[in-house]
Amino acid sequence: MTFSSTIGHSVALVGSGSATPRQVVTNDQLAQRVETTDEWISTRTGIKERRVSAVGESVSALSATAANAALQMAGWDPDSVDLIVLATSTPDDLFGSAPKVQSIIGAKNAFAFDLTAACSGFLFGLVTASQYLSTGSMRRALVIGSDQLTSWMDWDDRRSCVLFGDGAGAIALERTTRKDNVLIGFQLKSDGSRGQCLNLPQKNQYKELVGNISHHCGGFSNIQMNGQEVYKFAVREVPNILKETLKTYQVDSKEIDWLLLHQANQRILDAVADRLKLSQSKVLSNLSKYGNTSAATIPLVFDESIRSGKVKPGDLIATSGFGAGLSWGAALFRWAGPT
Ligand code: UT7
Repeated sequence: MTFSSTIGHSVALVGSGSATPRQVVTNDQLAQRVETTDEWISTRTGIKERRVSAVGESVSALSATAANAALQMAGWDPDSVDLIVLATSTPDDLFGSAPKVQSIIGAKNAFAFDLTAACSGFLFGLVTASQYLSTGSMRRALVIGSDQLTSWMDWDDRRSCVLFGDGAGAIALERTTRKDNVLIGFQLKSDGSRGQCLNLPQKNQYKELVGNISHHCGGFSNIQMNGQEVYKFAVREVPNILKETLKTYQVDSKEIDWLLLHQANQRILDAVADRLKLSQSKVLSNLSKYGNTSAATIPLVFDESIRSGKVKPGDLIATSGFGAGLSWGAALFRWAGPT
């Protein structure tokens, strides 16, 4: 299904923040656990190390740290936030972790909910929050992408465990009368028929309840991935959806200052830039430090790029998230910076 829309009221990105666990695991350290090498992981993925959550570094805690940093950059009082969207596939609580984040940061006037769309989650969350603001019903939202995939890894499966890490990133989004710095447009897609390429399914376990009635026992297995299929999907669909979005909103690819892609594999980032005929120097990447942090990658690399001064107010960003579902999407926006 495809959905695209022109925004009603203008919506501006005015703050960002991020947080990562303290524990660093290098490729050489992973090679002590599974049969792999730093050379294989570096050349096939661009990843050198990743972060793994320790005790106390929950999805809620990292999300709250990232959200507080975004609040501070935006100069917002927590009371002024109307909405918190937490994109995560690994909540601390299956009933939702967003209200916990709301309570930690003291955003007592906000309503908060989780949104699950794996590696596309942050982009889906950004678009979802923007709808509340563009209709005029709300003014300020925090969109957080946060995941702890290391909890759901088969650490003996070298084909998947070398790719993933933990992290969180957040964006402060505001309804604005400014015309220059806006979320210009987006497109989102899903294809459940290809969902088996990458999933984290429930275990199929049943127990007798009473008599001949059984009940399902909750619990998930590990991440299951067909790496080559996901790779082919990404290098085909991501350039396509970015091109479609540029065309729909009549933006020339030459106007793009930065390509902000889900950080899955450096080879995917390079292939997408090539297909859009964009210089590699326009591709934001921090894959070497964190690997694939799922819903967190886009706001995490974005926050680091803002704080290092690379991305400047007014810059035009083309972003794309993609992954399990399968799900993917693209958006075009200008970074407004704190107002
Ligand atoms: O958010 C989306 C999440 N998923 C992804 O982004 C995954 C996208 N896919 C990829 O990034 C790549 O497909 C991988 C990095 C997962 C794999 O790279 P590849 O170039 O497609 O490797 P491959 O699966 O074709 O495997 C090549 C060889 C195989 O050995 P043989 O059969 O040729 O002898 C694998 O067994 O590399 C072997 N291999 C490894 N060797 C050392 C696979 N994983 C490893 C490893 N270390 N960690």
